[in-house]
Amino acid sequence: MAGPFEHTMMPHADHDELARCEFVRDLKGHLTRDLRPGNQLAYERLAAPRFRRANKRPPRDRHEVRKLMLAEPVYQTWAALQRTSQEMLWDAAVDPVERDLPVLIDRARVGRGRKKGTLTLDSRVVPPRYIAAADVHCMPGGYATERTEDDVAAGAIFDFGVHWYTGGKLGPYNDSMGQQLSVVVRQFYPKLKPRRILDIGCTVGTSTLPYCRAFPDAEVHAIDVSAPLLRYAHARAEALGAAIHFRQANAEATDYPDGHFDLIVSHIFLHEVSRKAVTRIMKECHRLLAPGGVCVHQDITLFAGMTPYEAFDADWDTYANNEPCWAQMRSLDPKAVMTGAGFSAKGIRVTAASRAKGGYIAASSGGGWVTIAAQK
Ligand SMILES: C[S@@+](CC[C@H](N)C(=O)[O-])C[C@H]1O[C@@H](n2cnc3c(N)ncnc32)[C@H](O)[C@@H]1O
Repeated sequence: MAGPFEHTMMPHADHDELARCEFVRDLKGHLTRDLRPGNQLAYERLAAPRFRRANKRPPRDRHEVRKLMLAEPVYQTWAALQRTSQEMLWDAAVDPVERDLPVLIDRARVGRGRKKGTLTLDSRVVPPRYIAAADVHCMPGGYATERTEDDVAAGAIFDFGVHWYTGGKLGPYNDSMGQQLSVVVRQFYPKLKPRRILDIGCTVGTSTLPYCRAFPDAEVHAIDVSAPLLRYAHARAEALGAAIHFRQANAEATDYPDGHFDLIVSHIFLHEVSRKAVTRIMKECHRLLAPGGVCVHQDITLFAGMTPYEAFDADWDTYANNEPCWAQMRSLDPKAVMTGAGFSAKGIRVTAASRAKGGYIAASSGGGWVTIAAQK
């Protein structure tokens, strides 16, 4: 499989670095495809029968399953390897970025003179504790660390690393989530003609770009709390010829006027914010939407409907991948959150995402995505 698409902001990996990335990708594939099912066998044949003999009932929830599985050598080995592969993945991404960083910073500075889109940074925006307290999904430095003037390292590490993280399943531009969700928007709301679109928690804008193609008459905006991500995102969008207005802002409370947008989207954003923040973000979406406007959020699937074992398996990231808000997303009651934010119950749609026919789609652990949509 080829590496990520090489645009002018993508760090350039040499032969040995690419070989290392391919090794880690294959190791991760082996752990998921070949070894992870062994955990379930250990559960069904050893841990669960032991529990039933002692308690005269099966384990009730993912927490009871977890307690059992932590004592199983098969799971201990898999979990340790899984965590190690995660650290190896990001280490492999850091090397080319460290070497190319001065060049990438220069390119991003030059890119700012171009006129297609805009970049508005605001040093008053403080990254919230739920992303600043830990290096989320083990990415070194997390989303918001700035080590040098005009830093773009976090953006470059993310863009390069995500390709290998997902085994290439997001496509060479890492944009399949935006492609897929823009199709869902069209299917759900065929009459919607958005004048302004906002992507919240945009990171490096990979999911934002497809909206420029899907809605060519709309103005496309995107926000994130992290300046190094946004500098990279802006330069990347310019390099790929997309007009996007990037702004450093907290999605819990932005400066945009009431009713400014007709469409608000997010992609795998909500599982990285706290439960309180989700409530505030949905209220802010409601405020920002014009009457008739819609918000559509795509994220990891919910625990609802999973067996205790499946929910335990889908919760690995909470404990071992620095994803402190992962379980809050999977435990969400989307209808309650959206009505609490002011959306009327009849305009809310919650669906498990259909797998795209052809093209690329990445499955989160637990399988596929959930889509939460609401109309004002
Ligand atoms: C998993 S990433 C989202 C990925 C991205 N949407 C994509 O499709 O590639 C989560 C992003 O949300 C940003 N973020 C977290 N909390 C935020 C907030 N309250 N307001 C705006 N951005 C936030 C983080 O900085 C990070 O870039």
